[in-house]
Amino acid sequence: MTDTAPQLRGLAGRSPLPRLEFQMLWQKVLGVPRVWLLAHDTDPLSPDQVARFHELEARRLAGEPMAYILGEREFFGRMFRVSPAVLIPRPETELLVEIALQLLAPGRAAKVLDLGTGSGAIAVSIALERPDARVYATDLSDEALALARSNAQSLGARVEFLRGNWYDALPDHEDFDVIVSNPPYIAVSDQHLARGDVRFEPAGALTDGGDGLAALTDIVRGAGARLGAGGALFMEHGWDQAAAVRGLLASAGFSRIASHRDLAGIERVTGGFYN
Ligand SMILES: C[S@@+](CC[C@H](N)C(=O)[O-])C[C@H]1O[C@@H](n2cnc3c(N)ncnc32)[C@H](O)[C@@H]1O
Repeated sequence: MTDTAPQLRGLAGRSPLPRLEFQMLWQKVLGVPRVWLLAHDTDPLSPDQVARFHELEARRLAGEPMAYILGEREFFGRMFRVSPAVLIPRPETELLVEIALQLLAPGRAAKVLDLGTGSGAIAVSIALERPDARVYATDLSDEALALARSNAQSLGARVEFLRGNWYDALPDHEDFDVIVSNPPYIAVSDQHLARGDVRFEPAGALTDGGDGLAALTDIVRGAGARLGAGGALFMEHGWDQAAAVRGLLASAGFSRIASHRDLAGIERVTGGFYN
């Protein structure tokens, strides 16, 4: 290696990427923590390393989400593997996990169901925070379930994964204390589906193919048959859907219906209790 070999310091000045993304891609290429990059920004880089970086940089410049390029995203304090087969877990979904945990009294072996688990972020987080709970998770997508299983295994969570259309995935007569879901709730006509990171995520994870309330409606209507006495159902939904979801829950016989706001002050999670 000669003195003229490329160095991080020189490349940083020429990359159009924001500094943080530049550093995250280099962390992936070199397999080092961020602090290492800062201390080694004049070390010589090999042509292979530079070529690998330019490959990742080109993907990012084409709009691909950082989480898919890096293959992981943090959720509830843990790293989850992600791929284009699953929705990238969102920070606002942590609210749903917090609500579920509040409903699960410590020391009581409750049964929890996560419908539409994707990467497994919700189910795995609940299972790790409450190892005494029996956690089930379903999805329609085999690829999503494979990734969710691998996340559960590598993070050491016990979750029963099942494939199928919402409650159809479950054995007959299986009921739960808490059901949670972050279903597809974007209307198929919503222009946001064609913009930004969302373009790269699976359509079946984002939209119900209708007005955005179809999956939420199916989940509410099926919940009564799957909740034990006093059981709770809480769902994430879009910024303008809280009143509609409260209406669905009321029509299905739920009581103590409430909507919870995310950190941006938006009503993001709505649920209630049955029986
Ligand atoms: C918005 S994503 C949520 C993923 C994950 N729970 C999260 O919060 O990051 C919705 C998930 O529901 C799944 N899904 C869509 N329709 C379904 C159905 N009819 N039955 C079961 N799962 C479904 C999708 O495959 C997707 O993984």
